[in-house]
Amino acid sequence: MSSTAITGIATLVTNDPSLGGSPLGRIRDAAVVIDGDRVVWTGASGKAPATDHRVDAAGRTVVPGFVDSHSHLVFAGDRTDEFNARMSGRPYGAGGIRTTVAATRAASDAELEANLTRLLTEALRQGTTTMETKSGYGLTPEDEARALRLAARHTDEVTYLGAHVVAPEYADDPAGYVDLVTGRMLDACAPHARWIDVFCERGAFDGDQARAVLTAGRARGLHPRVHANQLTHGPGVRLAVELDAASADHCTHLTDADVDALAGGRTVATLLPGAEFSTRAPWPDARRLLDAGVTVALSTDCNPGSSFTSSVPFCIALAVRDMGMTPDEALWSATAGGAAALRRTDVGRLVPGARADLVLLDAPSHVHLAYRPGVPLVTGVWRRGVRVL
Ligand code: NIG
Ligand code: FE
Repeated sequence: MSSTAITGIATLVTNDPSLGGSPLGRIRDAAVVIDGDRVVWTGASGKAPATDHRVDAAGRTVVPGFVDSHSHLVFAGDRTDEFNARMSGRPYGAGGIRTTVAATRAASDAELEANLTRLLTEALRQGTTTMETKSGYGLTPEDEARALRLAARHTDEVTYLGAHVVAPEYADDPAGYVDLVTGRMLDACAPHARWIDVFCERGAFDGDQARAVLTAGRARGLHPRVHANQLTHGPGVRLAVELDAASADHCTHLTDADVDALAGGRTVATLLPGAEFSTRAPWPDARRLLDAGVTVALSTDCNPGSSFTSSVPFCIALAVRDMGMTPDEALWSATAGGAAALRRTDVGRLVPGARADLVLLDAPSHVHLAYRPGVPLVTGVWRRGVRVL
């Protein structure tokens, strides 16, 4: 194994709260030492131990690799026309998902995997070193299992979302579809996934159906996460907390009872501002959640319908500008927050023992992620200790 010291870092964000100051655990004029795939040391640049290699950050910023805990990358096709129509005033609805289902079913494994790796590479270049991704555009046992198998070749964070919408073949029999999702489809999918998700929303699955899906998945060893309260108020958030889901995702329309439930449980609220941006929806109120003591994650929701961005820096900028987050909070949520939403402690922070997933920003501080929106500030990425950019 070889060791590398990155020295001359103007600001190193560790997310180690024991360093004091803020949850970001900032070290000025810092160095970080990597050995193999792990971080082994952080501290003042001048005190860095001897290593095999040295990289001079030359006054730039190092932050933990982004943890994007919510995406839908196994799909084929394109929904430019739907986006165009929305920008002329048509509202977003769950029905557009079926367009992608048809294209995904028709695609070969090679086509799906090529699109998946293209998007993962795109995200990596923008600093994402951990990415969750879901099925949900197959909606048959074979097509859902295929999506999960392909995803599992590229990430450990794989989510079974057979309950994305009712499959077209079951349009007149939603109960029959829930039986399929919790029966034969679950049998085919459980071996390939870590998580189970459901789109709990008007036009998708109601609270009872969502509960049936999540409890069936849990009985098979999959841990719940929920698409909750995206388009309307509904039971999703409270169901997520009740079932100790790792995350309730979207959280755009919340009652006080929803916020109280999140504040009283372990479930992370994952906010996905790319979706509000691309659907011209009201922004989720991050300030309200943070002030209530809720743990907030920030992710892209990258998918061809509601949020076709793979850029965590873009989501950070939106969260700061429009959702009431400070730049510090937004960065924490996109790193340690994402890790919490995946119940991980080995990523999302740069402390001895953590995975050496680092991003070098061409900026004197992380605040530039919001201050300079749309500017490609990511100039270096290490994943598992290997420099990939
Ligand atoms: O998280 N809301 C449900 N699923 C996706 C959108 C999927 C689509 O429109 O294709 C989301 O926004
Ligand atoms: Fe989603």
